[in-house]
Amino acid sequence: MDFKLSEEHLMIQKAARDFAKNHCLPGVIERDENQKFPKEQIEQLADLGFMGMMVKPEYGGAGMDTISYVLAMEEISKIDASTSVCMSVNNSLVCYGLQEYGTETQKRQYLTPLAQGKKDGGLYIGAFLLSEPEAGSDATSQQTTAEDMGDFYLLNGTKNWITNGSSAGVYLVMAQTHPEKGPHGINTLIVEKNWPGVTVGAKENKLGIRGSDTHSILFNDVKVPKANRIGEDGFGFKFAMKTLAGGRIGIASQALGIAGGAYELALAYSKQRKAFGKEIAKHQAIQFKLADMATRIDAARLLCLKAAWEKDRGMNYDLSSSMAKVYASDTAMWVTVEAVQIHGGYGYVKEYHVERLMRDAKITQIYEGTSEVQRIVISRNILK
Ligand code: CAA
Repeated sequence: MDFKLSEEHLMIQKAARDFAKNHCLPGVIERDENQKFPKEQIEQLADLGFMGMMVKPEYGGAGMDTISYVLAMEEISKIDASTSVCMSVNNSLVCYGLQEYGTETQKRQYLTPLAQGKKDGGLYIGAFLLSEPEAGSDATSQQTTAEDMGDFYLLNGTKNWITNGSSAGVYLVMAQTHPEKGPHGINTLIVEKNWPGVTVGAKENKLGIRGSDTHSILFNDVKVPKANRIGEDGFGFKFAMKTLAGGRIGIASQALGIAGGAYELALAYSKQRKAFGKEIAKHQAIQFKLADMATRIDAARLLCLKAAWEKDRGMNYDLSSSMAKVYASDTAMWVTVEAVQIHGGYGYVKEYHVERLMRDAKITQIYEGTSEVQRIVISRNILK
């Protein structure tokens, strides 16, 4: 066992850290305040190869491993979790699924520009459309329908809470074709945003990750060619589950970064702020908080890296990715609340960043499977 990162991993970590400091930190408070999508940041990430990190170079990707992805997600999320969620969805829910299960034509047509984050000189990213008004955690209850019309599907329904909803050029949509077959009747279809019958709903006004654009997407008699179905007829739910297992490594790493960002700010503040005649870091009440924060963050990082390591070796990572996500997201929530507490009144105002990190942390316990769903996956895996 070797806990040391390779030279290459250290370089990627440093590149992500520098990027976050130089390009994400400026304006991060204003983007949060105004719910401004980090378009420039995503374009720059695309130039760095970070929008298709794990995609093979032959399909326009950077050909990196999942460990690199964890390291990059952690560093960017320390500063700007709105940017990192866009990156995570494109990498692990869209590009990964297309690379793993798409046809050669689908890969050439969609994966290559998505991995490069660009098409015809403009931004090109994807979104993953599973959640519905009545199907969140209970993801098998899909009400969106993809009626088999011979050489095309007729798509109807509404999807909710879609990250990259208005910025994406292409959607991976889960829809029910054979209701009598339950989860085995669901298909995943590749749908272009500008096709007739596709409507982007209003933008959600969110508690956190306010820079990311979250929308509902409506489909009204959208004709989707059969060639745009991913995998065999009825593979759609398994596709979603397999893709989400990797996505959960991304969100776990995002939570890890949010926790790390808040911890670093609290540590620095505690060494500079004085109370009762000495720096607050010299008071045991603060020292114990910092000790617990550092310990939990380290444990979360090890879980993230273990899940990534298993994925890179072709092992099953359903269990490890859910463990990483549930632990890292609970850690992010706890650490950010403590970081606000250490900052006292300053922690409650925007300039000190920790209140934003606290708001951003909450979603990591909800999206890509709530903490309760992760516990379902974990308990099913350990009891089987
Ligand atoms: N790999 C392969 N197959 C899997 C699988 C996996 N990881 N998980 C389930 N399946 C298969 C099952 O084996 C079963 O098939 P068989 O009948 O052949 O065995 C089928 O799928 C149905 O599975 P379950 O019976 O386990 O289904 P369930 O109704 O009990 O639900 C669940 C399981 C884990 C709760 C699942 O519904 C789930 O993960 N829900 C959460 C959904 C989620 O994460 N949503 C996030 C939305 S995306 C998002 O947030 C993105 C964003 O924008 C940031």
